Amino acid sequence: MTEHDITLTVNGTEHDLTVEARTLLAHALRDELGYTGTNIGCESSLCGACTVEMDGEAVKSCTALAVQADGAEITTVEGLSDGGEMHAIQRAFQEEHGLQCGYCTPGMMMTSVEILKENPNPTREEIREGLEGNLCRCTGYQNIVNAVQNAAESMGSGAVADGGTRDGGGSAGDGPATDGGTVVDACDAPGGCGCADEFDTAGGGDSR
Ligand code: FES
Ligand code: FES
Repeated sequence: MTEHDITLTVNGTEHDLTVEARTLLAHALRDELGYTGTNIGCESSLCGACTVEMDGEAVKSCTALAVQADGAEITTVEGLSDGGEMHAIQRAFQEEHGLQCGYCTPGMMMTSVEILKENPNPTREEIREGLEGNLCRCTGYQNIVNAVQNAAESMGSGAVADGGTRDGGGSAGDGPATDGGTVVDACDAPGGCGCADEFDTAGGGDSR
């Protein structure tokens, strides 16, 4: 197997490493460099768990080869905080309970950072559209959208763009952006675990 010497700058630290031509960026980050905050779910660009920032853009690191990232600046979820101070998006996910098992959370946060970079004051619909390539099996998405709104406000954009308030549960259409798939109840748990909403059964997510 052909090997290549590459350099990745991850969260400001330069790393020289040798990888096989077939090594995925996600595996290089986790297995070679120890940035295990980047999770791997589907390995096929569907779930978004592996999302990192590469040269300023969110990418799914399971569908990029490590050699393609040679020379790139990468930010993983570990790089969001600043000297122990949580990033606004991390604080917002905590405050809004935007996670349950947490497996999707690193990718959700990395994509959310890009959404807010491109649009500092997104509507709830725009947040859902921005997150359509990130899947969550736990939360029902409501609190994730709330978290992105919270972060937008704390990062200075102020208002909720569509005049909406934090959504604590269950209004129709407040799952991820759908593409016409069947919408079904995810959970009717008494007391509400946050997922008594809807999800798209059409085979979610794009492959941004
Ligand atoms: S593991 Fe990369 S998109 Fe699912
Ligand atoms: S919090 Fe469990 S998959 Fe999203």
